[in-house]
Amino acid sequence: MVSSSVTQQRPSHPFDVVAAEYDAVFTGRLLGRWLRAMVWQRLAGAFEPDQYVLELGCGTGEDATWLAGRGVFVTATDASAAMLELTRAKADAAGVGERVTVAQLNLEELRAGVAALNERYDGVVSNFGPVNCVENRQELVSTLSGIVRPGGRVVVVVMGPLCPWEIVWHLGHRELRTAIRRLRSGAEARVGEGGMVRVWYPSILRLQSEFAPHFKVLESAGIGLLLPPSAMAGLVDRAPRFFGVLARLDRRFAGSLPWRLLNDHYVLVLERLS
Ligand SMILES: C[S@@+](CC[C@H](N)C(=O)[O-])C[C@H]1O[C@@H](n2cnc3c(N)ncnc32)[C@H](O)[C@@H]1O
Repeated sequence: MVSSSVTQQRPSHPFDVVAAEYDAVFTGRLLGRWLRAMVWQRLAGAFEPDQYVLELGCGTGEDATWLAGRGVFVTATDASAAMLELTRAKADAAGVGERVTVAQLNLEELRAGVAALNERYDGVVSNFGPVNCVENRQELVSTLSGIVRPGGRVVVVVMGPLCPWEIVWHLGHRELRTAIRRLRSGAEARVGEGGMVRVWYPSILRLQSEFAPHFKVLESAGIGLLLPPSAMAGLVDRAPRFFGVLARLDRRFAGSLPWRLLNDHYVLVLERLS
């Protein structure tokens, strides 16, 4: 697999506008690093050097670059051309560019996008919410089942419907609509100044059952119950020692019941059935 340039299919995507600031606002912040470390722990167990992994909604390429650094070949895809440019630059700067291919792929047209890539993979990863932008998850699951080899892993990190921090915070600020926004299926959400995207928040149990025809669940865990949600990264910077204790508790109990059901994000590690 060789590195490639970005072929832009569409003039713009709402996430183009936030791409340049994404790492400063989330990836590089303490909260972003703690939450991502919990995901990397799962990725490390799921993928081995020289395997081929498809990433959906790669953002600025943080995970693609990390996986490539561990010897994995990554096809990093996103709907946003600006995100893909940053992924290309990050992987090249880290000296792993030859292991990262970037391609524009919209999850709303996944079947066609994947057919154009014309590859089969040892696994798929989608971190921090791209799957929440998919209405037709049945097509997502059936498409993934067609491109992941039997025994291959799929790791998805999805925003759950019940985030206690968000509910309490916004109720405290008398923002009822925002407090319960995750319960409104397919509601529009603003992306910075970049426009609107429609978002769905499937529960962990629902997503597990949707994957069940083709995948078995190896692990399910909450990524952040006690820590504030990713949109509130600034709070953590103000009291890092206090939130550090909460981060340790979140890591320790991630697989327990309340963590799996009440969280900002949850992770599912799945294995393609033979
Ligand atoms: C919150 S960011 C997560 C980025 C990255 N995975 C990470 O871990 O930082 C969500 C990403 O999903 C992408 N995205 C949103 N809707 C999409 C769609 N319909 N198809 C493909 N990518 C999409 C956005 O462009 C953005 O890069």
